[in-house]
Amino acid sequence: MIPELTKSSVSMRDPKRVEQILTSMRNAGSSTLQVISDFDMTLTRFAYNGKRCPTCHNILEDSKLISEDCKDKLQNLLETYYPIEIDSTRSVEEKLPLMVKWWTEAHKLLVEQKIRKDHLVRAVKESKAMLRDGYKQFFDHLHQMSVPLLIFSAGIGDVLEEVIRHAGVFHPNVKVFSNYMDFNDSGVLRGFKGELIHIFNKREGAVLNVEHFKELQSRFNVLLLGDSLGDLNMADGVMNLQNILKIGYLNDKVDERRQSYLNTYDIILEKDETMDVPNAILLYIT
Ligand code: TMP
Ligand code: MG
Repeated sequence: MIPELTKSSVSMRDPKRVEQILTSMRNAGSSTLQVISDFDMTLTRFAYNGKRCPTCHNILEDSKLISEDCKDKLQNLLETYYPIEIDSTRSVEEKLPLMVKWWTEAHKLLVEQKIRKDHLVRAVKESKAMLRDGYKQFFDHLHQMSVPLLIFSAGIGDVLEEVIRHAGVFHPNVKVFSNYMDFNDSGVLRGFKGELIHIFNKREGAVLNVEHFKELQSRFNVLLLGDSLGDLNMADGVMNLQNILKIGYLNDKVDERRQSYLNTYDIILEKDETMDVPNAILLYIT
């Protein structure tokens, strides 16, 4: 049905069910579809030439906007908390307060750096951030078919927007839920707006943004893309949901985490740095 689903990076718990969902979505057509995607390590690459690619936070961390001392502190936080984020032996309940701590401390450090809004463009331009191979087809196709794309990220909205703007794919059908920076009248970072979005509260974020989902009521089919188990709840605000197909990128600690991803995502993509499978699915259903 879709040759890309036979790639060696693809696994499915129940291929028959995937086939049924795809058929329903195709029959219902593109006017009933919305795409909800995570950003870091889902739309962006996890690694390139054997080296890790940066998240939104890492883009700032690697930039000239941050002092060496602050870089060390952010790096320490990453080394402490990232292994917890991906630890398959700990429960979400156990991880949750630690993730809040990570995000809160990282944001506090960023605010101390008095980052200027007008320097963000350059920080992104000089960064090693990379969208996954095939990103242009993904964004352009959704735009051409007028399918809304919601990017739902625990990263930093201002940085994320600049990455997709710089890549020339920030089309009008793209909407972002993320942590947005709050600048003072002189354009200096003084905090973050609204409720904090971290890796495990996307459900609350979805439910808070009820107006967005109300506008998309007739789009009852959802293609969801994520790389964390916390991304599975991103569609919890969708109204009249009929079909949902969840695609999960399994980037790191693949052997330890394979089973939990197979149990929860419909399609898992192991160490696959491309958008080939989502693109092939979109071509099939729209
Ligand atoms: P996402 O929701 O777009 O995937 O963004 C969340 C990622 O950001 C998550 O994998 C952890 C990462 N992160 C950092 O790399 N550095 C940080 O300081 C923080 C708070 C998060
Ligand atoms: Mg992610």
